Amino acid sequence: MEKITRLAVMASGNGTNFAALLAYIKQAKLPVEIVRLVVDHDDVKVIDLAKEAQVPVFTIIYKDYPNRETAEKQILQQLADDEIDGILLAGYMRILTPQFVKAYPQKIINIHPALLPSFPGRHGIDDAYNYGVKVTGVTIHFVNDGVDSGKIIAQEPVRIKDDDSLDSLEAKIHTVEHKLYPKILQKLIKEGVFKS
Ligand code: GAR
Repeated sequence: MEKITRLAVMASGNGTNFAALLAYIKQAKLPVEIVRLVVDHDDVKVIDLAKEAQVPVFTIIYKDYPNRETAEKQILQQLADDEIDGILLAGYMRILTPQFVKAYPQKIINIHPALLPSFPGRHGIDDAYNYGVKVTGVTIHFVNDGVDSGKIIAQEPVRIKDDDSLDSLEAKIHTVEHKLYPKILQKLIKEGVFKS
């Protein structure tokens, strides 16, 4: 029987990508189980989505710890207990330390709402819109300890039309994200990326 890949998702906000991943895993019957949601706020929508889907939640409040390393140690401990094979970042608005990344080498994936290396950071959609580029898009990449700078796995362009508003661009980007992330997850599973 095919081994089920055990993944954690880390998110900070609305969780629309988390929901899209869960829906696709179920619909396409991927041999994947999301065994943990890690969240860094205790009042965000993604927590409700996880509860509805019966995905256990681990909440880490960074300010309760002396530094990032100590907070991350708690996460690493939880993920070790969960026996995960890899991590999907889905709107996790923090940089991971080298110690964290080293624990899951080439097994942490991120989605970014711009065509990297353009417009890294927290405001990829706004930054591309305000710059006035005519094409932006979505990037999926491996995570290293830089800001959105790991090896690129996939990209999909999104045109910015003259009559696009920031809101309409956001909607277009999210629509692309919700299709691309699950498809790339499926490809990575097929390629055995999360197998040790
Ligand atoms: C997504 O657009 C994702 O690409 C972005 O956060 C949003 C999360 O939305 N990530 C980054 O900007 C990472 N630098 P969601 O919570 O609805 O999935």
